[in-house]
Amino acid sequence: MKNIELIKPSAEHGMPVNQLVASCPPLDTNSVYCNLLQADHFSETSVSAMLEDRLVGFISGYLIPNRTDTLFVWQVAVGEAARGRGLAKKMLSSVLERPACSDVAYIETTITQSNEASWALFRSIAKQLDAPLEDTVQYDKDSHFQGKHDTEFLVRIGPFQ
Ligand SMILES: CC(C)(COP(=O)(O)OP(=O)(O)OC[C@H]1O[C@@H](n2cnc3c(N)ncnc32)[C@H](O)[C@@H]1OP(=O)(O)O)[C@@H](O)C(=O)NCCC(=O)NCCS
Repeated sequence: MKNIELIKPSAEHGMPVNQLVASCPPLDTNSVYCNLLQADHFSETSVSAMLEDRLVGFISGYLIPNRTDTLFVWQVAVGEAARGRGLAKKMLSSVLERPACSDVAYIETTITQSNEASWALFRSIAKQLDAPLEDTVQYDKDSHFQGKHDTEFLVRIGPFQ
């Protein structure tokens, strides 16, 4: 992880986030406007990994409204060249260490069944936090996506300190 800096995103990161996510299948791409809002409004609970002035990793996250003990991890993207060196885990740990997350005792995310890298990442995070991990169906292929997207399983990790 030499030379990679983990920082709070700013609006200038919206466009690079859009490009990074597009280069990280199977992530769904969002509009640039959505990525601008993630980088700007959710900066306290999101993180950009910078290699010099290049964005090589990004986590979009937010505290769930009315359940502010829970950090929802929207997307995790690590550019191919930076993978396999613990960057995704480090990025998430750095968000959890922020004052904005001082009351956070749970992480939630959703994962499709076939995304092995994502399951491995969140299982590894649960282990690191020494916390239980539960999974249940959150958004169903037929009832929520009209058959056009695989079922998203809710992964809930916690409670942890
Ligand atoms: C998933 C992703 C974010 C992992 O980034 P990374 O920086 O390489 O992950 P880390 O090095 O922090 O690895 C974390 C754990 O996941 C495991 N892991 C990572 N990629 C894996 C893969 N492709 N297959 C199996 N396990 C994997 C690692 O072995 C590690 O486990 P360990 O801590 O028990 O050793 C990255 O591969 C990516 O951006 N993929 C495309 C987008 C995506 O699927 N994002 C996740 C959905 S939110």
